[in-house]
Amino acid sequence: MSTPIADLRDAFVRPGPADAVELRAFTHGLMPKRVPTMMQRFAEDWSQRGVDAWNQVPNHWQPGATNGAEDEVGWWTLPMVLGDAFIAPLLGAPHGTCIMQPHVHWTMQCLLSAPEVIERGNEVVLVDSAFPSVKHSVHRWEALNGLAPAVVDRPAHGHVDVERVIDRIGADTTMVVLSHVGFTTGQRIPDNKLRAVADAAHTHNALFVIDGYHSACTFPIQVDTLGADVYMGGLLKEGCGSSGNGFVYLREGLDLRPRLTGWFGNAEPFAFHDTPTPHPEVRRRFLGGTTAVASLYHAVEGVRLLLDAGLDAVHAHTQRLSQIVIDRAANAPFTMQSPRDPDQRSTLLVLQVPEAHRLCEYLKTQDIYTDSRKNRFLRMAPFVWNTEADMHRALDVLTEAITTKAYRDFEPETVGPVT
Ligand SMILES: Cc1ncc(COP(=O)(O)O)c(C=O)c1O
Repeated sequence: MSTPIADLRDAFVRPGPADAVELRAFTHGLMPKRVPTMMQRFAEDWSQRGVDAWNQVPNHWQPGATNGAEDEVGWWTLPMVLGDAFIAPLLGAPHGTCIMQPHVHWTMQCLLSAPEVIERGNEVVLVDSAFPSVKHSVHRWEALNGLAPAVVDRPAHGHVDVERVIDRIGADTTMVVLSHVGFTTGQRIPDNKLRAVADAAHTHNALFVIDGYHSACTFPIQVDTLGADVYMGGLLKEGCGSSGNGFVYLREGLDLRPRLTGWFGNAEPFAFHDTPTPHPEVRRRFLGGTTAVASLYHAVEGVRLLLDAGLDAVHAHTQRLSQIVIDRAANAPFTMQSPRDPDQRSTLLVLQVPEAHRLCEYLKTQDIYTDSRKNRFLRMAPFVWNTEADMHRALDVLTEAITTKAYRDFEPETVGPVT
């Protein structure tokens, strides 16, 4: 039996008073209540087993784990164990195709360093609103091995136009990279459009890479239906993991040998051979140096909760809550920048408002937690811990603050950067 969404409200630690409205899932997920227990287990495994923990620790991760000897894993194998047990179900991916990564940046570097990528062509097609881990990586590799970014601009309304991307794909294309959900607008590219991009890429023997940072934990995904060769992301945000919890799926049969792989990506790392030999499992070639184990202890506690509730239910809930904002936006003193169409919207709603930074800090004093960008945009991301009442309260306070200009007298403290 799946967990009712309403039960998830209390499965996470929410900062601030009990009635505070937390709307920042797109920026950083809340901490699942089980995280301190998992970090305690890391300390116990390290203190009680020492170096032997690399080969054997109780399987604290598997649902219903008995902690018996037959149910043990090692720190060594955690990136693959978690990839199979938690990332593969998020993506509808087969066993043996998913692995944990430090971050998307690392995955991109591995991809760009693989000779099998540049053998296919020299252009990487991407959109101007790609996340820096993608866009900057491609720019940094520009000219190396003859690689050239082919950046597709967005139309004036700011949403990605998939037809423009498809038109840009050609004989020179080696790879097409698209975000499933864009981080500037929350625009979701519908599955059939992603499939059309995949087909265009494959016609030219190019790889189709999807950055699924904001999609993987918010609605069900079938990587094969989308035609993805590579699907990468991280659990820091809606996944409610934390930093150091990236992941990648690599389609079966995709034979890549990244040059930037590390010694953990070797066939026999502890044989310490003079020259490197890629691991026969392609996903393992995406490992670097010694795996950062501590963050893997709590990485999937959010995913566990979301999978228990069911990604269909998670999606239906967040859509219901975002519809409240869309309905009220018609008569509100702000404008919606995110798509309204259910097929094209995600958890993120971007509202254009006056003095977004000051307004956001003022809302915080009213226990409404949003975030702001470029001093023009207020971002709200209703998620599993939010209720309809939360949304109405947030919108009431926001509307009143803008209408009465109450926020204008408020002097915010300097705010630091957020991801
Ligand atoms: C679309 C997208 N990709 C990637 C990332 C993070 O990249 P990295 O894991 O390299 O920090 C983010 C973070 O906000 C994102 O929104």
